[in-house]
Amino acid sequence: MSAENTSIDHLLDETRRFPPTADFAAAAVAGPDLYERADADREGFWAEQSRELLHWHTPFTQVLDWANPPFAKWFADGELNVAYNCLDHHVEAGNGDRVALLWEGEPGDERRITYAELTDEVRRLANVLADLGIGQGDRVAIYLPMIPEAVASMLAVARVGAIHSVIFGGFSADSLRSRIDDAGAKLVITADGGWRKGKVSPLKPAVDQALADRNGLGEQETVEHVLVVRRGENEIDWVADRDVWYHEVVPQASAEHEAQPFEAENPLFILYTSGTTGKPKGILHTSGGYLTQAAFTHRNVFDLHPESDVYWCTADIGWITGHTYVVYGPLANGATQVLYEGTPEHPEPGRWWDVIEKFGVTIFYTAPTAIRGFMKQGRQIPQARDLSSLRVLGSVGEPINPEAWIWYREIIGAGKTPIVDTWWQTETGAIMVSALPGVTETKPGSAQVPVPGISLDVVGEDGRHVGNGNGGLLVVTEPWPSMLRGIWGDPERFKETYWDKFSEQGYYFAGDGARLDEDGDIWLLGRVDDVMNVSGHRLSTAEIESSLVAHEATAEAAVVGAADETTGQAVVAYCVLKESYLKSHEDIENLAQDLRGWVADQIGAIARPREIYIVTELPKTRSGKIMRRLLRDVAEGREVGDTTTLADTMVMSTIQSKVTGRR
Ligand code: WTA
Repeated sequence: MSAENTSIDHLLDETRRFPPTADFAAAAVAGPDLYERADADREGFWAEQSRELLHWHTPFTQVLDWANPPFAKWFADGELNVAYNCLDHHVEAGNGDRVALLWEGEPGDERRITYAELTDEVRRLANVLADLGIGQGDRVAIYLPMIPEAVASMLAVARVGAIHSVIFGGFSADSLRSRIDDAGAKLVITADGGWRKGKVSPLKPAVDQALADRNGLGEQETVEHVLVVRRGENEIDWVADRDVWYHEVVPQASAEHEAQPFEAENPLFILYTSGTTGKPKGILHTSGGYLTQAAFTHRNVFDLHPESDVYWCTADIGWITGHTYVVYGPLANGATQVLYEGTPEHPEPGRWWDVIEKFGVTIFYTAPTAIRGFMKQGRQIPQARDLSSLRVLGSVGEPINPEAWIWYREIIGAGKTPIVDTWWQTETGAIMVSALPGVTETKPGSAQVPVPGISLDVVGEDGRHVGNGNGGLLVVTEPWPSMLRGIWGDPERFKETYWDKFSEQGYYFAGDGARLDEDGDIWLLGRVDDVMNVSGHRLSTAEIESSLVAHEATAEAAVVGAADETTGQAVVAYCVLKESYLKSHEDIENLAQDLRGWVADQIGAIARPREIYIVTELPKTRSGKIMRRLLRDVAEGREVGDTTTLADTMVMSTIQSKVTGRR
């Protein structure tokens, strides 16, 4: 039996149900009428939401323009400024003294920043960006730790109509270089370093390396300046004329800066994500539609009462969750939120619960991997803290197994807090499937229903609805406001990746398998392509394979995502060595270890394989396709499935004895 089948059977046994309490439902911002309004007139519903939630400098008269699918335009004749919506708008409404960011550094330092203060900082920074020659349409790479300047940088870039490309601080110099090159960034905003696990982890050196001549690429040519925030106070090299200290220019800059309106489809950001090929895709999002769905979902899915809630999303700004649910959604809604710099286990495993207790967090949004990690450490740790302020819990990034869901509700949510399991993607820009906490009777393990205004289906390979009780592929059947507008510089790849599979029906194919239960609720079953999900982070098998074969020892490599109790999936690689390498190197004892480090250096620590097996051959079909399914069986310690299509049926037993011998 395959892993998928095991989990389906298991999920079908899940019968526990949790309706909202009457008190919660009575005070909730979202009621069942949202579905009714959206069903009656989907586009009219989004127009209404957009007008209600955002400030438009020039009101729009058009809603959706789908004349040239799959290239959508939303609210195309309207104009707005995204940063104005997240900042000045609240100050002008009299909420300037409300705290926007409750920031805590890993060493324990703290900053409380009001909306008025954040607006002031962003205006100054926008003036600095203009001085550095950044204007509408220019690309700015951001490589920063979780500090307030990261939020300010994204907003300042948006304010001047430029496009940010945030690169997660855990990515290597190589990954940084390829993303900077692909976007043609003119400016990089970074820090000397940030705090992680009790030490300063340097960032600027990776930027220096990325911009220097490396791997025969020559010196990077588009970047003119590097703006550096001082955070880690670690020693760094300095390139005169190119590098600029943030603290030497921003506080001195004028705090007068009028936010100009830009058209609704003005690009807001590019965010690179892994696909099925080796090259990361630059997912492009624009302004008006994105901000509408970000604000709408943030308000209704988390039941946000901005005047009283303290919200905390633990995602890093380097991921889409950090973009939509740390920066744009919460700030457009005028929320007060926690921003925490470090890791959950520093200086000890209760750090996150301390943060919740200290700031009185009411809404908490995190990933199943983190929850499973806490389960392993034991309930005593959270139970030693006062978590009674919590009233809504969210989950994102990967399927949450019913055990983890129940633990989350019981131990973190005191047995009464609603849980929203939110399904979405970098490409969808905002939440697509989720319960509404005051409306939906929740089911542990199921993300359940599309949010109001979103049309989804589960279909078979033929594109036909599978019907309740059946599994298939998740598709989005109608364009939505925060949908990606393309892949940066590659419109063909955009069509091919997401729209070709169901071109006849005009459906967006998400890459996920799903099942509809007897009530028609959606259960996500994981990716059906070669994208892995490790700790809620997307990794491409092809990208890691190409990194492995770039090593002098490796002739061929196959990578699979194997089930892992904590991280959901883990990277397991099989490598065949070059004859020439074997002849010239007698000792290959440490090679697997070296290769793991090699991948971490090339891509980033998150891509480091959990295991690498050196094998003499890979299982291939007669037409030469690697049978990853069999390698996954071995990696997960299962009996190997059907091998009859293999060119050489002996290969698997050799591989299996090798792997079992190692365990
Ligand atoms: C997976 C993260 C099950 C899914 C927001 C998707 C989920 C990929 C869930 C996108 C969930 C995300 N239940 N699976 N609630 N949320 N996924 O682009 O496979 O980093 O395709 O966006 O994560 O990952 P991405």
